[in-house]
Amino acid sequence: MMWEADASKDLFDEAPRERSVTGKLTEDDLGIDRTLRPKTLDQYLGQGRIRENLRVLIEAAKRRNEPLDHVIFSGPPGLGKTTLAGVLANEMGTTLHTTSGPVIERKGDLAAILTNLQAGDILFIDEIHRLNHAVEEMLYPAMEDFCLDIVIGKGPAARSIRFEVQPFTLVGATTRTGLLTGPLRDRFGISYRLDYYSVEELAQIVSRSASILGVEVDDDAAIEIASRSRGTPRLANRLLRRVRDYAQERAGGSVDAEVASRALSFFEIDELGLDWMDVKILETLASVHRGRPVGLSTIASAVGEDPSTLEDVYEPYLLQRGLIVRTPQGRRATPLAFEHLGIAIPEG
Ligand SMILES: Nc1ncnc2c1ncn2[C@@H]1O[C@H](COP(=O)(O)OP(=O)(O)O)[C@@H](O)[C@H]1O
Ligand SMILES: [Mg+2]
Repeated sequence: MMWEADASKDLFDEAPRERSVTGKLTEDDLGIDRTLRPKTLDQYLGQGRIRENLRVLIEAAKRRNEPLDHVIFSGPPGLGKTTLAGVLANEMGTTLHTTSGPVIERKGDLAAILTNLQAGDILFIDEIHRLNHAVEEMLYPAMEDFCLDIVIGKGPAARSIRFEVQPFTLVGATTRTGLLTGPLRDRFGISYRLDYYSVEELAQIVSRSASILGVEVDDDAAIEIASRSRGTPRLANRLLRRVRDYAQERAGGSVDAEVASRALSFFEIDELGLDWMDVKILETLASVHRGRPVGLSTIASAVGEDPSTLEDVYEPYLLQRGLIVRTPQGRRATPLAFEHLGIAIPEG
């Protein structure tokens, strides 16, 4: 399949702001991520509504023999946006071309990419909110009318030439659709927000991955790993690999709930899957600011991370778990956060 061939060129597999529970990503992690990546809608577990919607849209487009409408996926890292781009290409039986917003620096770069597309191809632009303005404007007519307006010459002699490109599907990924400009957002016919996965869904993903990796992991162990995976498939797969390592060295290879739990404690994986940055954020709110509301930029400088990363990558899960709340005055730690950190709630 084309997607397979193309996947080896997928340089943008891991979002640059991706975090890892046990330090830096290794080459091995990246390679395995690809083996575990679903290639069909049936292999794509969870996100049921999106999956079934896409199934209908794909069938309809194929029946009409037209490319799929442009699609934008949004949501925190590791939830399966890049995977879905590959699944779409595979299910449509077409070629996937992968790039990312910051990489397309000049209009000429985009023109080169677009003029290379064959009819029906999928162009995946990761971190599409980071496209620069000039490039983004060139994308509008390409998305709408499959043409490019190129200005030749300067000053009074300048003239604009229109080039046609083959009808294609643009698939964009972003952490939040709110980061897109209105005109770009409006040009996507299909828009989906990916949500954190349930423990049951993640357990299914863990079981699937375990069978691909050839590790015996029973159902209770899959649940144990899933419940510490922060609602995120990428993290579930990563924890599974750490558990596999532990089981191989310390427990004779196969994994039951007890072995999984021992392994996860051994690697100091938090019960809620929080990493040190999450914990640092909670500590800033709960101990340093004693549960009072704190502004985003204050938290950012306290933990040494930029405000937009905090907002797009870390905050959504903490909000979803009810560990922090957003108020007009700022973010505050909830009683649950105090309980999780084992800190007494300050009086008054
Ligand atoms: N729905 C899913 N079912 C099974 N595995 C998934 C699913 N979504 C993601 N994964 C796994 O998680 C990894 C990260 O997904 P990815 O698509 O790269 O996330 P994103 O692009 O949103 O950061 C993939 O390599 C894949 O193994
Ligand atoms: Mg991605």
